[in-house]
Amino acid sequence: MGAPPLLQADVAIVVMANTAGLELWIEDAAVASTYILLAAEQFNVGACWIHIRGRAGQRLTADEEIRQLLGVPDNFSVLNVVALGGKGENKSARTEKDLPFQNVHRENFTSQA
Ligand SMILES: Cc1cc2nc3c(=O)[nH]c(=O)nc-3n(C[C@H](O)[C@H](O)[C@H](O)COP(=O)(O)O)c2cc1C
Repeated sequence: MGAPPLLQADVAIVVMANTAGLELWIEDAAVASTYILLAAEQFNVGACWIHIRGRAGQRLTADEEIRQLLGVPDNFSVLNVVALGGKGENKSARTEKDLPFQNVHRENFTSQA
């Protein structure tokens, strides 16, 4: 189900938002998740975004199963779970030459950079 990193995680942070009247909850929760990932890297902790929103669980939606497990009311929605723990691999940093500049478009979508 895309969640194997959770099996070995030391900690899991469930990122959710009170969606009542909150139009941009997905964007807000995604920004919060990104900060968690960046902070983990700063402490050399492994982290992985496990996606939940829009995914099926075993009985209900993945969101509903997590909220049921944790007793979270219906007005909240779960975007993801961030698994945290020891790193399974150490990737070297990407350099400027690794960047796919063909994906950069100027003025209109088809112009090449
Ligand atoms: C929106 C989003 C959803 C993701 N969902 C999952 C997931 O469900 N399970 C998982 O193992 N990794 C998930 N990941 C992590 C990615 O598979 C990948 O490990 C991570 O983005 C690092 O990418 P890189 O190989 O480009 O460094 C997700 C990442 C993003 C940004």
